[in-house]
Amino acid sequence: DELLLLNGPNLGILGRREPGIYGSATLDDIEKAVTAEVAARGWRVTAFQSDAESELIGVLQDKYDTVGAILNPGALMIAGWSLRDALANYPRPWIEVHLSNVWAREQFRHESVLAPLATGMVAGLGALGYRLAARALLEVSPA
Ligand code: DQA
Repeated sequence: DELLLLNGPNLGILGRREPGIYGSATLDDIEKAVTAEVAARGWRVTAFQSDAESELIGVLQDKYDTVGAILNPGALMIAGWSLRDALANYPRPWIEVHLSNVWAREQFRHESVLAPLATGMVAGLGALGYRLAARALLEVSPA
């Protein structure tokens, strides 16, 4: 079984991106942590990061046959309407993750156009949020 781990714009530079807000973990650290979290169930992780909305959409179109997805859309949360349409057609549970507590920040980060389609959302817990999202997908997915 394959779990999708998708990260959007500016998340490839985690570890050296505004560490006061996003922490010191790199995307590689996060991918390894998620992989470890789901290994016992026999799930593999397909991790993909892109700064381009179109590439994230392409992966979602290709990967219907997955058990679920974890997605940090970065700023595509704000107006990623094409990504939203792709998610509407994604048939498995998926969790939206934000490292930072978006509601403690600028007003323009307070509403996600994607969140209404998500199974759930984790925000403000840093890199831990990805592991919690993985655990949530394990819980909601039939064994
Ligand atoms: C973010 C929050 C977004 O508002 C921001 O544009 C990001 C990162 C987060 O993980 O906290 O790129 O998704």
